[in-house]
Amino acid sequence: MTGTAHIEDAAEMSEPVEACARPRAPLGLLAELTYRCPLQCPYCSNPLAMEKGAKELSAAEWGDLFRQAASLGVLQVHLSGGEPCLRPDLEDILKSAVDAGLYTNLITSGVTLTRERLENLAKLGLDHVQLSIQHTDVGKADLISGYPGGVAKKRDVARWTIELGLPLTINAVVHRHNIEDLPALIDYAVEVGAGRIEIANTQYYAWALKNRAALIPTREQFYKSLEIVNEAKERLKGILVFDVVSHDHYAVRPKPCMGGWGRNLIDVSPTGKVMPCHACETIPGITVETIRDKTLADIWIKGDAFNKYRGTKWMKEPCRSCDRREIDWGGCRCQALAVTGDPCNADPACALSDWHKEFAGIAETESSAPPPPFIYRRIGVPAE
Ligand code: SF4
Ligand code: FES
Repeated sequence: MTGTAHIEDAAEMSEPVEACARPRAPLGLLAELTYRCPLQCPYCSNPLAMEKGAKELSAAEWGDLFRQAASLGVLQVHLSGGEPCLRPDLEDILKSAVDAGLYTNLITSGVTLTRERLENLAKLGLDHVQLSIQHTDVGKADLISGYPGGVAKKRDVARWTIELGLPLTINAVVHRHNIEDLPALIDYAVEVGAGRIEIANTQYYAWALKNRAALIPTREQFYKSLEIVNEAKERLKGILVFDVVSHDHYAVRPKPCMGGWGRNLIDVSPTGKVMPCHACETIPGITVETIRDKTLADIWIKGDAFNKYRGTKWMKEPCRSCDRREIDWGGCRCQALAVTGDPCNADPACALSDWHKEFAGIAETESSAPPPPFIYRRIGVPAE
């Protein structure tokens, strides 16, 4: 699963949390309908230990959740996974989101879709399709996804999406196996008629962290990719909108991960865990509640997980006195924990973090060595 970065930017749009008596309404809900997926991308953000399919929320449970989300003020629902099209009841799930008045975005690899199914989803009220691509070259795409034949299928899905009059975003996760081919990925987005491209440098959590040495580009490759994007942005003004997620290891300041903890986004796992971030369970001491036990409003407003790092009170120095603390919200809690051992530290992507030099150094070292083979995401095969 990839593709939430475009809603993270909304973090900069509104008032600080701590000016409010209670948290403001969330903007978006990421509905991870299933962790099952035909692809095996080595940068997948799904957990290393997948929840079993049998416990997935039913279409009726998703419907109830979407009605609660709409009452809470959520505007957009992102139907994601894994691969959401593996749910045979996707149509029922979509319909309940549409009926609840939510803007619906299908985040898909496209490889299991048929034209008939997409047409039906469009008729039911689907608002937007976000299609992931791994590469435009067949051999490289097959290697990255661990799935043969995806390129041709994705072209079909992109074409059908445009024919059906749906807006299309191309989502490309970039890393050392495709970063130098960025011009081809951008050309592809224009060719297929997408209005937007999300270029997301790999975020090193979950499977991507396992595969970091295989994925991490050099600093030079990353800087070159910025030049390519900046040139393309100018050239394609009015044709293609760019959303770019920067590379943490080569950054100077972090991104507002999830748009700020408990500020904009709710992530719901296939079994109904309601989380401020898909990786929050890696943080010891977090209590994650499920929609089967409590209402969405209860969890959003009072839940332990959402309140743990909401706002700025939990911050240590240098974040506590930093003038960016309500812009990037200290970056990513999960990355702070993974690298520094304390989720209350500044994200090591920040140059003011004591760990930043070491963090950047890891990238320099790993990217200058030959890439090891991928450890593919495989359900039922736990990562060592
Ligand atoms: Fe952001 Fe903290 Fe760095 Fe300031 S010190 S820029 S708040 S991560
Ligand atoms: Fe959890 Fe960034 S991945 S806060």
